[in-house]
Amino acid sequence: MPSPAFHQQRRAAFLRSLDGPVLLFAGGQRSRNYPANYLPFRADSNFLYFFDSPEPDAAAFFDPADGTVRLFLHERTTADALWHGATPPFETEKTRHRVDEVLAVERLEDEVRRLAKGRSVRSLAVADHRTTLRARSVTGEALDFDAADGPGDARVCDAIFALRKLKQSEELEQVRRAAAITREAHLAAMRHTRAGSSEQELVGVVEGTFAHHGSVPAYGTILSVRGEVLHNNHHGNPLRDGDLVLLDAGAEVASGYCADVTRVWPVSGKFTAEQGEVYDIVLRAELAAIAAVKPGVRYRDVHLTSARVVADGLVQMGLLRGRPDTLAESGAHAVFFPHGVGHQLGLDVHDMESFGDRVHYPGGRKRSEQFGTGYLRMDRDLEVGLLFTIEPGIYFVPAILTDATLRERFHDSVDWQRAERFVAANAGRGFGGIRIEDDVLCTTSGAEVLTAAIPKDRAAVEKAVGAAR
Ligand code: GLY
Ligand code: MN
Repeated sequence: MPSPAFHQQRRAAFLRSLDGPVLLFAGGQRSRNYPANYLPFRADSNFLYFFDSPEPDAAAFFDPADGTVRLFLHERTTADALWHGATPPFETEKTRHRVDEVLAVERLEDEVRRLAKGRSVRSLAVADHRTTLRARSVTGEALDFDAADGPGDARVCDAIFALRKLKQSEELEQVRRAAAITREAHLAAMRHTRAGSSEQELVGVVEGTFAHHGSVPAYGTILSVRGEVLHNNHHGNPLRDGDLVLLDAGAEVASGYCADVTRVWPVSGKFTAEQGEVYDIVLRAELAAIAAVKPGVRYRDVHLTSARVVADGLVQMGLLRGRPDTLAESGAHAVFFPHGVGHQLGLDVHDMESFGDRVHYPGGRKRSEQFGTGYLRMDRDLEVGLLFTIEPGIYFVPAILTDATLRERFHDSVDWQRAERFVAANAGRGFGGIRIEDDVLCTTSGAEVLTAAIPKDRAAVEKAVGAAR
């Protein structure tokens, strides 16, 4: 867990950047079906950044006028102690969190009115809509968690972004822990793979490994023989020889920090020649993108580096025609690599994605209007301490390969008939998709791959598959 001093320093830095009071919310428990049956509680990341293990419905009032932070928590009741266990008294929480005061969240509206002393108070929307409604009613702002330009006032979002953007050593320690658990889960899934088993069985291995270490999936585990469905959370398929398993899964540790890793392996334990060829192109694209990482480099150029390597490999396979740099520039590579090379990582698996393109495409940069490259989730200049994923892929997506507009646009640069054969491959189940993803820290000398210990060269992957049999 990051230390109490870390949280205190972050709050002090936040206070220094504010010109008026801010009220942040952890969010509350959300029901799964009937009201008292809750989903596991997960505090809002902006709150988690400032407080260790916050309680549901916690709120914090930051006052830059006198540099104070007040924490709001539920009153301690006998009924809560009976059903959920006793929680420490306010005095203990005040000491643990090193805040100026702990107040009852039951009186939040009155207390905030008193503390604001006529000043306007700003807040941020959170995923829990009930809490967002409360934030709206307290501050009078039109807060919307789904707003494309962020969950609240741009100055508040920018102040938090400036703090969360570059990862400190205590945060990296948490990500390294998440990466170690993620490594164990990926290796366990590789080792337990055998024809006749199922996607669901391997999901159990992955998520069981996370649980064993007190962590949770940072996002819905993607484990599929249909790897061409980018965010495939369906786990109903059997595993058959000839299939590729794509696993995109990352552990989130108790502090909220996470990893995000993708590996692909053959159910049989041996890549076919064609699978191996495509795999090696993706791996070359990933390694080239990682090699391109250094301070000052534009992330879009890292993306284009991987796109050019993908294009080059696909030209050699006869799937694309033309010069790799021209193909990547025109977006033809996106017929097979239809997403961006990655995203920031931290407390959110897509870190601070809810803050929108104002922070992820700074200085008037705009998203590409091209199919594929338009999905690139950020285009910042890399800085020491920026943490992000590198995750190129090659997919044979029936919907793309039959798309009339794309077929017309890239009529000459794609061998469509050859591509269609990949959809019919593997006894009609299709080739699927291959993505290789690591978590990368920009350092003074280039890149540090925090997830490097998870096997990814073909021989190491093949060696791990089925080893638990
Ligand atoms: N791990 C899923 C994604 O990056 O979108
Ligand atoms: Mn990712």
